[in-house]
Amino acid sequence: MSPSWNNVRADFPILHQQVNGHPLVYLDNGATSQKPRSVIDALVRYYERDNSNVHRGLHALSTRATDAYEGARARIAKFINAADPAEVLFTRGTTESINIVARSWGHAHLKPGDVVLTTEFEHHSNLVPWQQAAKAAGATLKYVPLLGADGEGGPDLAALDQLLTPQVKLFAFTHISNTLGTINPVAEFCRRARAVGAVTVIDAAQSVGHRPLDVQQIGCDFLAFSGHKMCGPTGIGVLYGRRALLDQLAPDETGGGMVVQVTYEGATWKPAPERFEAGTPNVAGAIALGTACDYLDNLGRDKIAAHDTALVTIAMEKLSALPGIRIIGPKKGAERSGMVSFAFEGVHAHDVVTFADEDGIALRGGHHCNQPLMRKLGLTSTTRASFYLYNTPEEIDRLVKSLQRIQKFFAG
Ligand code: ALA
Repeated sequence: MSPSWNNVRADFPILHQQVNGHPLVYLDNGATSQKPRSVIDALVRYYERDNSNVHRGLHALSTRATDAYEGARARIAKFINAADPAEVLFTRGTTESINIVARSWGHAHLKPGDVVLTTEFEHHSNLVPWQQAAKAAGATLKYVPLLGADGEGGPDLAALDQLLTPQVKLFAFTHISNTLGTINPVAEFCRRARAVGAVTVIDAAQSVGHRPLDVQQIGCDFLAFSGHKMCGPTGIGVLYGRRALLDQLAPDETGGGMVVQVTYEGATWKPAPERFEAGTPNVAGAIALGTACDYLDNLGRDKIAAHDTALVTIAMEKLSALPGIRIIGPKKGAERSGMVSFAFEGVHAHDVVTFADEDGIALRGGHHCNQPLMRKLGLTSTTRASFYLYNTPEEIDRLVKSLQRIQKFFAG
């Protein structure tokens, strides 16, 4: 049975407020999601009762904090079906996770003449680290083209076959584009990459909290995501890495907590995950991220995905009917994730966002950390409405009304 989505709204205290005299309509979930009461309570409970450093103390609070922190790691491993909790590294978020692979793996494995492959529609966080790693190694960065004048055709799969040569050492790609809403066939990408011996890195920031995700079924080597886009706190994220690969990697950061033995001459490293978690970690964030996994799985990520699809289908239909609107990404709601990015003829995205805010609606306007993609599509910016489990069809009606008001204002 599907959850009652209106009851779900009661779990999110922040939604029950007025903004500029109107009930808040929060449609900026691609940037960050709101947090349910259970996640907020987990943070408060930890600081009120258990706050202590982990893996260091023998006292009761430290033992409780360590158990809860490692319990969260096991919970998150289950959430993505990792074979072993040691394959789950806590980081600050997707950006840090990808940078760890780019620096540690890139430094150890990339050499002149090698190719790193990515796509033309990556978030800067899955693009700039590869530019840096390729530059440092004298390797070349290549891009799988995006098809269609509005990017509606998705990745060019025929070109992918041409590009995936044995020179490709790593293929990094997004699961869901944060701007287009395109859903990549990630298991297929991994299968093709494996055939040429390339390591795969998936940016799952926009997907892991929105649909079921199984790293073993996908067959990826690394997968990165952030807590704050999946009902968890900010400042906590995950890098999943296959155990065999993690054990070969040198640490990216060094210091306390990740060493076995230190002498004045040098140090030896613990295995994963500790090897990659130098210093005091974000204990509260990790524990509350585990709570966010419980929250999402209690609702059912398959049901959340279906809810996203229902909302984006309504939004596509209603927004397409407005004059002067150009929607980028897949044309059908069923083919995209729960977001829609559009350009409004004659109105800058920042003006759209400002006017919508007057109506109590939170949108995002800009290049969405996709500058090369914007340039490719002949745009400087778009407005993005991104949905999540607490959004409703009535909120899409509010958005449409607001866009009509904006159009009228700028036409007049
Ligand atoms: N990556 C986030 C977004 O797409 C910030 O808005």
